[in-house]
Amino acid sequence: MQRRQTLAAIALALGTAAPAFAADPLKIGLVLPMSGPFADYGKQIEHGIRLYLAENGDIFAGRKVELIIKDDNPGTAGDVSKRLALELIVKDKVDVLAGFGLTPAALAVAPLSAEEKKPMVVMNAATSIITTRSPYIVRVSHTLPQVTAPIASWAAMNKIKKVYTLVADYGPGQDAETQFKKTFTAAGGEIIGEVRVPVRNPDFAPYLQRIRDAKPDAIFLFLPPGAETVSFMKSFAERGLAQAGIRIVATGDLTDEDILDALGEPALGVITAFHYAQSHKSAENASYTAAYAKAYPKDRPNFMSVAGYDGIQLIAEVIKKTGGSADGDKFIEAAKGMSWTSPRGKITIDPATRDIVQTVYIRKVEKVDGKLQNVEFDSTPDVKDPGKP
Ligand code: PHB
Repeated sequence: MQRRQTLAAIALALGTAAPAFAADPLKIGLVLPMSGPFADYGKQIEHGIRLYLAENGDIFAGRKVELIIKDDNPGTAGDVSKRLALELIVKDKVDVLAGFGLTPAALAVAPLSAEEKKPMVVMNAATSIITTRSPYIVRVSHTLPQVTAPIASWAAMNKIKKVYTLVADYGPGQDAETQFKKTFTAAGGEIIGEVRVPVRNPDFAPYLQRIRDAKPDAIFLFLPPGAETVSFMKSFAERGLAQAGIRIVATGDLTDEDILDALGEPALGVITAFHYAQSHKSAENASYTAAYAKAYPKDRPNFMSVAGYDGIQLIAEVIKKTGGSADGDKFIEAAKGMSWTSPRGKITIDPATRDIVQTVYIRKVEKVDGKLQNVEFDSTPDVKDPGKP
């Protein structure tokens, strides 16, 4: 350590770049569900991170990136995530905390980031308030209000007058419900019923029966993608809600490409609003999806993989800008206002909130070359999180 620091100091004094071996590794501690019901979140985020490193190299400003992954299965128990993050800080001495599949994990770790002045890069958890819980948090995924407002406007403008809302009863579901009501009723729509369901293992049959009897034009839905969304879609099809003329509108979390094939034919025609689709047409996404297909032929790239890819790019650019420092204050100052073209389109880190500003697309599930895809047909650029006070 002593010797390495001396070499770095000499390099600095000579005005030359410190040789790679002279710098400490850049330790990035990832808190992610890698097993259990939300294991695909961790898998996708890790895929995105590793793709970026394979394409761009794993040395940022002379520091070799070292990833340390902690599995916080299921990702909904804050105390587990917090204990792992503490271990990463104290034992592994990580420079940056990153990952965070689900809201309870991010909310539980946020106070540690604030107290320790640790940069924390949120790569999925999407409840609006998360970024307000530590000044060292930056988010590269989305927020539920950000992707809900556009679908509520679309519904109101497209002959959907009466909506029944169904959401998972925790942060992102509550955010989605609140924003949908706000935007949809302001545009003249009516909410004729609402229900919040348990995050894990809800039995959808009784809810769907009630919704069918209430005869809405559409259901607005948010559930964290996984086995529950597949089970919802199955129940929806079995109970004949589509035949009764009830449509589904949702945020794109529902038709995430990682589970789209499992949702199957009942997903056809579902309209969603979201910031990323595998089928997004751009040079950056063509190159991203081709690289992904080569590296992970069994999986489909989704919004979580892109958030991992963009999140590690943010860390790379920040570390370059700070000349190798991951000091909390320097890190977050460098991240504020950063803007680049991601596979999803242009993204910017809002300097005021450290949350992401991005295009939100309206999409329809269609079969393209025999595969279900979210096909974008409308968009709103530069959407900020409307959920902030
Ligand atoms: C969350 O828990 O914050 C969450 C999980 C899955 C999503 C979005 C948000 O698709």
